Amino acid sequence: MYFDGRVVVITGAGAGLGRSHALEFARRGARVVVNDLGVSTHGENTHVNSAELVAAEIRAEGGESVVNNDSVENGEAIIKTAIEHYGRVDVLVNNAGILRDSSFSKMTDDDWVQVHKVHVLGAYKTSHAAWQYMREQNYGRIINTSSAAGIYGNFGQANYSSAKSALIGLTQTLAVEGGKRNIMVNAIAPLAGSRMMATIMPERVVSALKPEFVTPLVVKLCSADNKESGSIFEVGAGWVSKLRWQRSAGVFFAPETGFSAEDVEAAWNSICDFTDAQYPSCPDDSFAQAFRNLQISLTDEAEQ
Ligand code: NAI
Repeated sequence: MYFDGRVVVITGAGAGLGRSHALEFARRGARVVVNDLGVSTHGENTHVNSAELVAAEIRAEGGESVVNNDSVENGEAIIKTAIEHYGRVDVLVNNAGILRDSSFSKMTDDDWVQVHKVHVLGAYKTSHAAWQYMREQNYGRIINTSSAAGIYGNFGQANYSSAKSALIGLTQTLAVEGGKRNIMVNAIAPLAGSRMMATIMPERVVSALKPEFVTPLVVKLCSADNKESGSIFEVGAGWVSKLRWQRSAGVFFAPETGFSAEDVEAAWNSICDFTDAQYPSCPDDSFAQAFRNLQISLTDEAEQ
């Protein structure tokens, strides 16, 4: 999988996962926009131009890159760097991130807002700015970096998990909207021994969980031949896995007679029984169940 002629934008590429992605894309011939604001895990200025350090690593290996130091909150400025220097943007990896962990009772508005700004507003801004170019050229690959916390929830991460969960919704909708224009959008929930991981795991684990074990999936999903879109992957330590929604067959109560909380309680085991599980993948799969219970045909309604 080579990226000659392709322009790859990676946010938060000055450290950890972003740095690993940037180096690998450059090794495979891409011209890389290395974006990083140079902040601590908490989001405070470190006064280190980490993007420039990674760009220098790329240059030392004979690769091509340009630095951008804007915050992802100004995503249009990051995409502008790609357009001004290279005239296009083919791949966008939304990777920049911060943490402001705190139990929900102690969480401040600032903890909530800053985390949402970087992860959600940032991914929106960069994607929205890149979108028009990707649509015009009928080609685009976007990766949104979610998290196991966003999928499953995690103590002390109400801000972070809700932001990371939002990226899954963004991914799935952009995949639907971008499909016809050959814009493939996927989300990853990585596990990697970065400084972010060092805040919660012992050093032995941090050094074993190499960011380089996450990058091959990102490269594959951003390759020209990739047709996978709207999917979520867990990835780390050499393990790559795809997720999907599962729901129970559920219980149908009669709409015409009505039903009570006690009826729901009586049917609880059946409601939660996954024996005949289904794997819905779009809102129509939800409407289908509701319409079935109302004895309305989805196709008849669509035709009208
Ligand atoms: P890291 O802290 O090593 O790197 C994050 C980079 O983002 C830093 O270089 C930082 O300066 C940059 N950044 C922060 N705010 C920015 C902004 N507003 N604009 C531009 N750059 C900004 O963290 P790591 O672990 O490499 O994380 C990368 C992504 O992966 C993050 O989105 C994180 O939430 C996510 N993630 C990481 C996991 C892990 O195990 N390391 C687990 C799940 C998700």
